[in-house]
Amino acid sequence: MNTQLLHPTTEGIREAARLLRDGQLVAVPTETVYGLAADALNPTAVASIFTAKGRPMDNPLIVHIADIKDWAPLVKKIPDNARRLAEAYWPGPLTIILPAADCVPNEVRGGLSTVAVRFPSDPVAQAVILHSGCPLAAPSANRSGSPSPTNAARVMEDMQGRIAAVLDGGDSAVGVESTVISLCDDTPRLLRPGGITPAMLEDVLGPIDIDPAVTHALEQGQTAASPGMKYKHYAPNAHIRLVKGSADSYIRYVNTHADDGVAALCFTEDAPFLNVPTVCYGHRNNPLEQAHTLFDALRQLDELGATTVYAASPNPQGVGLAVYNRLIRAAGFDIIHVPHIIGLTGPTGSGKSTVASIWQDAGIPIIDADFVARQVVTPPSACLEALVMTFSAAILHTDGTLNRQELAARAFKNPEATAALNAITHPAILKAIDDEIARLANDGHTLLVLDAPTLFEANADTRCHSIVAVLAHEDNRRSRIIARDALDDDAADRRMAAQQENTFYARNGVTVLYNNDTLDSLREQAITFLRNEKRRCSL
Ligand code: TXA
Ligand code: MG
Repeated sequence: MNTQLLHPTTEGIREAARLLRDGQLVAVPTETVYGLAADALNPTAVASIFTAKGRPMDNPLIVHIADIKDWAPLVKKIPDNARRLAEAYWPGPLTIILPAADCVPNEVRGGLSTVAVRFPSDPVAQAVILHSGCPLAAPSANRSGSPSPTNAARVMEDMQGRIAAVLDGGDSAVGVESTVISLCDDTPRLLRPGGITPAMLEDVLGPIDIDPAVTHALEQGQTAASPGMKYKHYAPNAHIRLVKGSADSYIRYVNTHADDGVAALCFTEDAPFLNVPTVCYGHRNNPLEQAHTLFDALRQLDELGATTVYAASPNPQGVGLAVYNRLIRAAGFDIIHVPHIIGLTGPTGSGKSTVASIWQDAGIPIIDADFVARQVVTPPSACLEALVMTFSAAILHTDGTLNRQELAARAFKNPEATAALNAITHPAILKAIDDEIARLANDGHTLLVLDAPTLFEANADTRCHSIVAVLAHEDNRRSRIIARDALDDDAADRRMAAQQENTFYARNGVTVLYNNDTLDSLREQAITFLRNEKRRCSL
């Protein structure tokens, strides 16, 4: 079959309408995505849609109308809330499901007793429907499982030779498929998010249910309210992995996984910082732009030849919910949580622990590197065994636990011994910190603090997206540690001498909180930093 490319002229629209009346398939532009249309009341024509797409027969189709009076014959009855919803958002990117009238073929309903109806706003779509004189059943015009096409060239990629014609109406404005809502039960149920947001629906309907399949994979044995949700969808050939986290954590994650065949599906502002080939899908705070760009971006990734794609996760609010819904399906629900990590450091007596507890009170989990460091040498411990191999069993108490004084005496004797100590302990501490980060990320935490007095010395700064140093004048620190630890002046001096100078911490990119004033002043600085950091990273 030769697939004609038609243009949205009077002749082009007439020809499309003639083919449709004749029982053939024509891809038509709509404001959401391109649809693969057939006469909805012709069961043979409708059946050929499933063949052309390779679509499972139990996945029902949306019926498109271009005059509100064509709705009533398709459904059993139009309840009041459905009427109000249509008045508010039709024509537009909204599909309403109601119990079906007997005239709707089983092929359209996918065997269900309900029918989905939509009145598109695209003038070309409306003209084709009106000229063909019949409602049009139209799924998205892609091969089943692929990203939906948002322009005629993408339709041709999938459908050339399989359908009679493609009507070229330019780029689809919205870019993701319509919002699908079922009004068959007492409470309206959102089955698929789209250009009409949950808030817009609730403005008209009051509270609605959001089907769990909108944001989560169906569990084994669960039936899909919308059959389309049980199939893998929107997926390019590349394996997509959705990375959830701040911009900083996304960029760092991708750059540390920059292997051959890796590409990034990222926000426009992230691209300059990524060391892999990128395809952008709009700006981070612009869900309309993301929706408009997403499906074409997914197809571009295949043109790049990417095998693994790390996708930046969108904010699932408003139209962003539709973008998120498509991306988790494109990723087959492979989601990586990368929390944003604030490193907290500073010398003894500076008030670092006070800042840690202020942030802990604000609900941020704190990873205490000192605690982790003690744990990695608590028997049974491979790290402790390695220390014994290097420094002899003299570093153990009789009960087999670590004698810290004895280890310190041997390890700080000369620089070589210190280097040997660090070579054993630092990797073990970092590994334990990574495990703790992964555990907290799995629990859903998106922001963590890593409290580490020797953050830089232990290379733990490599795990942090931003770093805060708490510093104070030497006199203040000395009097604080004397009071806190009941030290005499000599002991305090020795302790201070073993610490880094303030200048060591005040390096590039480190935010310094000064603690020379009241506790309230320190608290205010700590809370302000946290607020700004959350805003900066959209957390
Ligand atoms: O924006 C759109 O809706 C596009 C354009 C072409 O209008 N069409 C579209 O159709 O996305 P399709 O077939 O790709 O997606 C229709 C979705 C599927 O998930 C299907 O399972 C669901 O709507 N659906 C259709 N009829 C249904 C019904 N009676 N009950 C539950 N879900 C239904
Ligand atoms: Mg589809």
